Order: sequence, then C-alpha cells, then structure tokens
Amino acid sequence: MSINITVVDEDGESREVEWRDNQTLLECLHKNQYPVLATCGGNASCATCHAFLDPEHFPASGERTEEEEDLLEMIDDVATETSRLSCQTEYHDELDGATVTLKPGM
Ligand code: FES
Repeated sequence: MSINITVVDEDGESREVEWRDNQTLLECLHKNQYPVLATCGGNASCATCHAFLDPEHFPASGERTEEEEDLLEMIDDVATETSRLSCQTEYHDELDGATVTLKPGM
C-alpha cells in the first residue's frame, strides 16, 4: 500500500511523492531524492531529519517517543508543535494528502 504526500523542500518547491507502507518518512524522503542529512542514521539521536507536518495531519503521525521529545526540545528555536523527526515517523494511511515541509538548509 502507499499514500501520496506533498513535500515542500528547503527552497520552497513542492512536489507530490509516494510514501510506501514499509518506509519511515525519512526513508520515503530519501527514496524521492531529498537530501535529508540524517546524521545518526535514523536512531533518534541527531535531529538532522527534522521535518514539519501540516497541523491537520499531524495527529495521524502518532505519538512522539521520549527520545524524540528530548531532541525536539534541544532545537526548540526551530521546532514547532507539528515538528517530527522523520526517522521516527511511521507510515499511516491517514497521512494521505499530508504536507511535509523540510527545514531550510537541511
Ligand atoms: S536521523 Fe538522526 S534523529 Fe532522525
């Protein structure tokens, strides 16, 4: 199964991409050639995979883990209420149509 999401890149360009059910959001972004740094390799310890979900779809992205909350607190100058670590964001059907915005300079 898969859904479609819109990704707004660091230059403000938006593109619709496919997100497959066996991918995290980070894997989906990488598969679609977005150069998300992901320094820690998806282990919830660097925050370089930070992305913003649109407020309408944010609840469907599930609960943040404690590690994720801690990391987002460390970057609270840029993180918002709808921030997620893309490596910790699992696929969900209800995220169909979501907009994911990458932080400028990622
Ligand atoms: S890749 Fe490091 S926290 Fe997501």
